[in-house]
Amino acid sequence: MNNTSHNGQSEVSVASNVSYFLEHLSEYHDSVRDIDTYKTLHQFISNEVAGVSELLDIGNGGVFDYDTSRIGSITAIDLFLGELPTDVDGKFDMVLMVMLIHHLTSTDWRSSWDNARLALDEAWRVLKPGGRLLIVESCVPWWFFRFEKPALWLLSRSIKSVFSHPVTLQFPASMIKAELEKKTDKVKMTEIPKGKFVLQFGFKVPSFLTPAMPFAFEAIKKEFASNAVATSQFSAASSESP
Ligand SMILES: C[S@@+](CC[C@H](N)C(=O)[O-])C[C@H]1O[C@@H](n2cnc3c(N)ncnc32)[C@H](O)[C@@H]1O
Repeated sequence: MNNTSHNGQSEVSVASNVSYFLEHLSEYHDSVRDIDTYKTLHQFISNEVAGVSELLDIGNGGVFDYDTSRIGSITAIDLFLGELPTDVDGKFDMVLMVMLIHHLTSTDWRSSWDNARLALDEAWRVLKPGGRLLIVESCVPWWFFRFEKPALWLLSRSIKSVFSHPVTLQFPASMIKAELEKKTDKVKMTEIPKGKFVLQFGFKVPSFLTPAMPFAFEAIKKEFASNAVATSQFSAASSESP
């Protein structure tokens, strides 16, 4: 295994995500079910997805951290479950990414951020006009991000990742929000209160030991975006005519 990039995400990151989540699926499942912070996330996501008819869940990992009975149809993908087809556009009412973005690491923070942006672009592409992108993500304050950047650089150069868990990079919430605001002005960011415990590198740890906070981002893809462009071109053309 080497550390060269494969579609942005490093091969080491891809391989360790696949092996870690395959080997720890039931453990991870239990943590998501039992840890108080995840119970809050479950409640939050269940409310958000209620009534969606076609949901795409990216980075699902075999874990449905929401009430699936409230959704018409769910397409769940992950590294080991399949690929997002290239011929699918504007199909889904909602695209969901729960705790995915910080796993899309490369060998440095800039290319890891490029991966995150690529994931957002892909999600946007397959979303219907009027559809919602819902991201639930562990985010860190800017001061902590400054420490994480060199840590990622160092860890991604070592063959073994931390406790067999994939190397991750959590971003500040305002960075994700600003990226979504490039796509639409309909962006809502919500800080989700932590419980007494969180999951870090696969371990249940007391929340006060980490500055990481769960955030939810909802971005709505505007309806009739192409009409709006056509209309503005039409008005520009009419104002130029004599
Ligand atoms: C922390 S788990 C989150 C699982 C689940 N979404 C949840 O609600 O808890 C991160 C997941 O992201 C997946 N993942 C990492 N890189 C990915 C990629 N490039 N494409 C799809 N999934 C990816 C991992 O395999 C893993 O299942």
